Amino acid sequence: MPLIHIRTPHLEWSSEAPRHWLDGQPFASHFMNGLSSVFPDGEAFFVRSVLRFRDQIDDPELLLQIQAFAGQEGHHSNEHAKHVDLLVHQGYTALRAQNALLRRVTRFSVRRLPRLSLASTAALEHLTAILARRLLSEHEYWTGMMDSSMALLWQWHATEEAEHKAVAFDVLMRIAPSHGLRAWALASNTVALFVEVVGRVVYMLWKDRLLFRPSVWRDGWTFLFGKRGCLRGLGPHYWPWYRRDFHPLDIDDQPLIEAFEARNRGAFAPRVAVGGR
Ligand SMILES: [Fe+2]
Ligand SMILES: [Fe+2]
Repeated sequence: MPLIHIRTPHLEWSSEAPRHWLDGQPFASHFMNGLSSVFPDGEAFFVRSVLRFRDQIDDPELLLQIQAFAGQEGHHSNEHAKHVDLLVHQGYTALRAQNALLRRVTRFSVRRLPRLSLASTAALEHLTAILARRLLSEHEYWTGMMDSSMALLWQWHATEEAEHKAVAFDVLMRIAPSHGLRAWALASNTVALFVEVVGRVVYMLWKDRLLFRPSVWRDGWTFLFGKRGCLRGLGPHYWPWYRRDFHPLDIDDQPLIEAFEARNRGAFAPRVAVGGR
């Protein structure tokens, strides 16, 4: 099991931040805003889903990893909540109500459907790990297009997603190792996350009065599926989940994590290492 570090970044949130902060593109910026605005409640759901089963885990190493996972996700949740505050300040006020609904649904799910919630968490962690790998392995391209206020947030979050990508999966394999449950969880959550994020993009474009501008959607298609689209060519990382012998650590992200550390010395308060051998 790898070491997990809890980093506290020095992020500055300014109400002057640009609305279309990713390469000046409305769709691309709002796609990332959509993801970011889901994180505060989404990641609280991940932590609750995993902690719900902590008492049934007797591997001391995994217990430490769970603690580190909860610490990292707690920090992510807090920083993305500040981003939501900024988005609301910019006029996208319905995000508050959308998040209140998401909170109710996810809390109900953890209470009443704990195994499904845990499987969903492991599946969504697979998706965040794939996106993290894309961002970190092409960091110059992606962060080069971002406003400087956003570059560290996304790289830091991606790095920690890569670091803890196996924790929820390892808990799931001890609690509910059903292959069918795992497969269903990824299939359903892939659709659910995409629909949730695109719904938020539509809302924010509507608020910008850009919803019906064809060039915005053309640029959006290129951003998602074009030659260097952020979702293009992810299949080889996505599909192995459905194999019975899949494990998140089959793909080693350690070089990407170390490269991030080397690029960002001084950007964090002293980090805390938890777990690992
Ligand atoms: Fe996270
Ligand atoms: Fe995560």
